[in-house]
Amino acid sequence: MGKDVIVACDFPSRQATLEFLDKFSGCERKPFVKIGMELFYAEGPQIVRDIKARGHKIFLDLKLHDIPNTVKSAMAVLSGLDVDICNVHAAGTTAMMQAAIEGLTRPDGTRPLLIAVTQLTSTDQEAMEKDLLIEKPMEEVVMHYALTAKNAGLDGVVCSPLEAKAVHDTCGKGFLTVTPGIRFSDSAAGDQKRIMTPAKAKEIGSDYIVVGRPITRSEDPVAAYTRCVDEFIG
Ligand code: C5P
Repeated sequence: MGKDVIVACDFPSRQATLEFLDKFSGCERKPFVKIGMELFYAEGPQIVRDIKARGHKIFLDLKLHDIPNTVKSAMAVLSGLDVDICNVHAAGTTAMMQAAIEGLTRPDGTRPLLIAVTQLTSTDQEAMEKDLLIEKPMEEVVMHYALTAKNAGLDGVVCSPLEAKAVHDTCGKGFLTVTPGIRFSDSAAGDQKRIMTPAKAKEIGSDYIVVGRPITRSEDPVAAYTRCVDEFIG
């Protein structure tokens, strides 16, 4: 899988999601779709099968974080859904990440890509210090989590685009950086604190950008998606 724009389909229902995806039916490029907690909890695994059946690649963003045995069993279920990417919190520790890989790996040795969340892009240094009692600089924390994920055998991390270059420098170019917190130069940041444009994300070497509201809340989602693809890949 090469560089791509992943559209965060943060919708409350199957109907809203499929109506949104229908807008792309005339597009040459089928958007890579991110299914998050809202949609998955509302509609269950069938929504993954339905979107997959329409020919979209899927990043199932459930950010698992539990004891290793529970994560292993849950991942075995997700692996059977044939998703392309799924994820865990690196804060779950090495043992949990290794268990996740074991659970994901099918009898034939194949598995979806597994990436780790380092620090959410909505978390800033102040929140990390006050709420999580982590007093190191954000970049040091993110690099440590990324290296821990790499050593546990994961394929990459979800991180702020501001950290993608440093992650590649620390963990190697082949270690994937999947970066949300993407905004056009002229769109609202919302609750995202560490943000970047698609063009800049390309320049610093993000492998995948995850874009939600700038596309889903746009008056013309296809135009907004195309703008992202042109800036990031084009
Ligand atoms: O609407 P917006 O472009 O901010 O959406 C970003 C998406 O990426 C959301 O679905 C959010 O849950 C997800 N995400 C994130 N930061 C992370 C991991 C995932 O914003 N660190």
